[in-house]
Amino acid sequence: MSVITTRREGEVLVVTSNNPPVNALGQAVRAGLADAMAEAAGDDAIQAVVICCEGRTFFAGADITEFGKPPVGPSLPEVIDAIEASAKPVVAAIHGTALGGGLEVALGCHYRIAVASARLGLPEVKLGILPGAGGTQRLPRVVGVAEALPMIVTGNPIPAAQAGKIGLVDKLVAEDGLAESGVAFARSVIGKADHPVSSKRTDKIGEIPSDSDFFDEFRKTQMRRLKGFEAPEACIEAVKAAIDLPYEEGVKKERELFGKLVTGTQSKALRHVFFAERAAAKIDGIPADTPVLPVKKVGILGAGTMGGGIAMNFLTAGYAVTILEREQEALDRGVSIIRKNYERSAAKGRFTADQVERAMGLLTPTLDMNDLADCDLVIEAVFENMDVKKDVFRKLDGIVKPGAILASNTSYLNVDEMAAETKRPGSVLGLHFFSPANVMRLLEIVRAAKTEPAVLKTAMDLAKKIGKVAVVSGVCFGFIGNRMLSPRQRAAQAMLLQGAKPWDVDKALTDFGMPMGPFQMSDLAGLDLGWDKANSKSETIRDVLCERDRRGQKTGKGFYDYDENRRPSPSKEVEAIIDEFAAKSGLEQRVFSQDEIRERLLFPMINEGAKILEEGMAQRASDIDTVWINGYGWPAYTGGPMFWADTIGLDKVVAGLKAHAAASGAEPDICKLLEDKAAKGETFN
Ligand code: 3HC
Ligand code: NAI
Repeated sequence: MSVITTRREGEVLVVTSNNPPVNALGQAVRAGLADAMAEAAGDDAIQAVVICCEGRTFFAGADITEFGKPPVGPSLPEVIDAIEASAKPVVAAIHGTALGGGLEVALGCHYRIAVASARLGLPEVKLGILPGAGGTQRLPRVVGVAEALPMIVTGNPIPAAQAGKIGLVDKLVAEDGLAESGVAFARSVIGKADHPVSSKRTDKIGEIPSDSDFFDEFRKTQMRRLKGFEAPEACIEAVKAAIDLPYEEGVKKERELFGKLVTGTQSKALRHVFFAERAAAKIDGIPADTPVLPVKKVGILGAGTMGGGIAMNFLTAGYAVTILEREQEALDRGVSIIRKNYERSAAKGRFTADQVERAMGLLTPTLDMNDLADCDLVIEAVFENMDVKKDVFRKLDGIVKPGAILASNTSYLNVDEMAAETKRPGSVLGLHFFSPANVMRLLEIVRAAKTEPAVLKTAMDLAKKIGKVAVVSGVCFGFIGNRMLSPRQRAAQAMLLQGAKPWDVDKALTDFGMPMGPFQMSDLAGLDLGWDKANSKSETIRDVLCERDRRGQKTGKGFYDYDENRRPSPSKEVEAIIDEFAAKSGLEQRVFSQDEIRERLLFPMINEGAKILEEGMAQRASDIDTVWINGYGWPAYTGGPMFWADTIGLDKVVAGLKAHAAASGAEPDICKLLEDKAAKGETFN
């Protein structure tokens, strides 16, 4: 059956797309739409057209899988121009998400109606491009620059009700019977003298001149979020063109900018990120018909930094949560932090007061482990100590109902050992959240040796329900993310002894696009994590810093000095300590370029990533990229560590690793998989 079908409702032609899963505007859809418009034009009995979609959504955009392939006509701009040029009014009937090219189709229509649950947006910027089918020119003409600019530059969709307020949607209609509502709307406009044509509208476009402060002010508010990305600035340029140029020239400008971006590395990287996130949801060895176990009630052990944040995820998503602590004081503190976090979010407009109370109403604090008996899932977030964890698993196994899932939030420890303490190892796995757990999108799901497929699938399903991006890892020390962090930290420490300063090392990574460098990270986490105060003998730089109470941000000083607003500055005291250790080491002192620092820090991570792949701890290289982008703020526009390695060339990575090892007088420990791929000219992705 054709992906586009037409049927007549009296004088209205209803054009329906059926291209699962998201009605992407692939070639067949575009050709079908063009044919349908020709059919409408050629039939005198037809006086109006409705365009709608079957399935879960209106057109979700261009078909991203076609990018980078030779184009086959008709192009999307041609199809949209044909819709707009129709003498007979065309109505877009929107449900689900009208995104990217999908919204551009709707903008080409003369009218737009939508169900209240629909969302509309131009998310192209998130793929490193800009709307390339007239969106940057039509949207500002329809809703004005003040509304259009944030939609185009941030890529965030807006709900139908807001779209109604700003004139993007003409009418909100009932969720059921959308096509019929479209036909009724179409009938109501037949016979009108003029139908609005987006590209010809001039009523709103003049409201903000292109040289006004508005653009600079807007840039300022978005700067932190958009740093390093190329597409947002191109989006701004295109919107300015919509103000300054006639439509036809504005469109030319848009196309020129689109062409440049779509062939660039950032767009390739961001497309990789899009598909990587979706690929991560597919797990080897899990048959499609594997059941998802019911989870209604969640138990959490430990109301510390992680336990509280983990609880918030489930509370926000509507799950009943019982949280357990050892002492009343810790329990009260944990619960009050949860409430404070919700209230802070409410003050920022992210929650209503009602939502806060609803979430808090779902929380049951307790000191009695027996209260976890009827939980469907229990996650422990107690101290990172194997004996403590084992004890917890043994006890939980005796108390929590049979079949319930028992999970550990451990950062590094062996989940198989914890599972072995129970009589239900098949129901045990790791759920490794990232701090702050209510904010960070990543969830590493640790598949233990005996974890049953249904348990794994249930965890994947839950991750989606609480808004996380889940990646499956095997059992190894530190799993995917923290395991790759270790060689980076080691490389950073080694460079200190050869003349690099912490702030130079950090800068190389923040310039690359990471939110912080290794020493800033240490200061944030606390230098005394794992430091043995009783046995500290000034043997390492870290020992000395801790001994002098330079234990990081929490003591006001660590590798950096901090002012009362936690702003860091380089420390003379630290420099002197480092110099002393460097002198003792006998290593040659030299100046490192920022490029070299970056390679010395990041190449060992790639090497470790390759080992993770070789050992089967990650299923695919793109899973590693997904971990680093969502858990550690690796710049998405580079595609993640493994994709970045591909773009610079694996042979260059191997050569770099060898050179760095030689410079430090060490044997290079290069992963065979990496070396083989480099030799064959292959890539990870
Ligand atoms: N092209 C090709 N495939 C797409 C696609 C697209 N635009 N959008 C989604 N898919 C695929 C996904 O890869 C996934 O495939 P899989 O099942 O094989 O993994 C499948 O459709 C379902 O997608 P999701 O898992 O993301 O489904 P959700 O229901 O969670 O989300 C969605 C639906 C909100 C529509 C989400 O898929 C999405 O945000 N899609 C991308 C939207 C977008 O970026 N559009 C702009 C495209 S660029 C453009 O239009 C250029 C134009 O200006 C010229
Ligand atoms: P934390 O010290 O802030 O909280 C641990 C809490 O567990 C304390 O409040 C303690 O009283 C409680 N607790 C200890 N034993 C208990 C028991 N038997 N029953 C009930 N409560 C008990 O520690 P944090 O940082 O929250 O870490 C918890 C776990 O999460 C650790 O395994 C850690 O490795 C992991 N993790 C930590 C991250 C971080 O950034 N802090 C990130 C990801 C994982």
